[in-house]
Amino acid sequence: MVSKQNWTKISCKENGLSQQTRIRDTAYGGYGVGTLEDGRVIFLPHTVEGDTVTFKITEDKAKLVYGEVVEIINPSEHRIEPYCKHIGECGGCVFGHINYEKQLEIKKGFVTTALDRNKVEYPEATIVGCDYKEFRNRATFRVYNGTIGFYKFKSNTFVPIEECPVLKSSMIEKAREVAKDIKGKSYLYVTENDKGEALARTEYLLSSKYSFDGLKSREQSIGRKHLGYDTRYGTFWVGFHSFLQGNRHISNLLQDFVFENSEGRLGLELYCGTGYLTLAMARKCEKIDAIESYAPSVRLAERAKLKNVKWHISLSEQIGTMGKRKVDMIVADPPRTGLEKEVTNYIKDSGAQKIIYISCDPNTLARDISRLSGKYAIEKIQICDLFPGSYHVETMVLLNKVK
Ligand SMILES: C[S@@+](CC[C@H](N)C(=O)[O-])C[C@H]1O[C@@H](n2cnc3c(N)ncnc32)[C@H](O)[C@@H]1O
Repeated sequence: MVSKQNWTKISCKENGLSQQTRIRDTAYGGYGVGTLEDGRVIFLPHTVEGDTVTFKITEDKAKLVYGEVVEIINPSEHRIEPYCKHIGECGGCVFGHINYEKQLEIKKGFVTTALDRNKVEYPEATIVGCDYKEFRNRATFRVYNGTIGFYKFKSNTFVPIEECPVLKSSMIEKAREVAKDIKGKSYLYVTENDKGEALARTEYLLSSKYSFDGLKSREQSIGRKHLGYDTRYGTFWVGFHSFLQGNRHISNLLQDFVFENSEGRLGLELYCGTGYLTLAMARKCEKIDAIESYAPSVRLAERAKLKNVKWHISLSEQIGTMGKRKVDMIVADPPRTGLEKEVTNYIKDSGAQKIIYISCDPNTLARDISRLSGKYAIEKIQICDLFPGSYHVETMVLLNKVK
């Protein structure tokens, strides 16, 4: 009898184009992990642990081999009927064929695996998710001669879309309205608030290929030039290019985490954007220095008129050159690349009692926390699924100064 462990090797066959494998894991980035006949790893999108599939190799780079499923021979127990007809083709919901419980398990695994790999100690992590329906408040469409779509997973092949259940239908209507006049290829960014007001920005591509070379930008607004978002800690504003937490259902968990865990007189916030988290922090600290590199976001943050916050347009990595300051706590919410080395060095010597680190990339989060180890240790870790259906995951960590 063939045991499940031996299944891959025994059933694996070369039939000209395709081989066969059983998917044993999911890698960060959204790929199912299988095994090639020669024992190397094959990364296959749109699969899940337990699937037995035939596939063809699309890219072979010695250690990293990528492929495309030809046929699902035996579907995994974790598979569901996708909630959108474009799943499997569109790059947006690369986990859209996986039941939600399993999605959460996979995402929690991304975080704990990264922490383990970096030898970081941590308490039990919890994960909170949300409904995929209409969760997104912003989207980047691709437009081709008036038709809206997205890219295929990890590619720049245009996939026209008829539906997108993770967006409100009003956002799709607005995108169609703007797109109908677009000739050729364009990016189209649409952001909407809960009042139905929207911003749209188009970026036209002049070259024949989808590439940022020769990109010409034209802004077009629908409704207002800036959008206000009401939260339980106050209103913040976003503009055409400023960052916005992309989930309308549960982004408030990030603010709540900052509110619940902020304490001390003097606060420092790094990568503050338009002040979304600052609103919560400002309720707890007497004085805050908030730092953001993108000047228009700082101008929007000032609209909140927070009397106890001093805004700075600066790179966070220049914090060490901004004069000596005593801080009781630090909040940092960097982009995917994580904290620059100068920032981790600064935090290590800051003397702050508490650090709140909010991260959208488990690997850079784990790297940065391991750099802080010896000086700071994790007290609490809360994972938040801000992007159901995708491989992305948000992690909130509270670190305490080691005594
Ligand atoms: C993940 S967003 C977080 C923004 C804000 N905390 C929020 O929740 O809306 C990261 C922010 O860092 C800014 N940023 C990127 N690199 C930076 C740097 N080196 N120094 C300061 N800010 C930076 C970006 O413009 C963006 O606003």
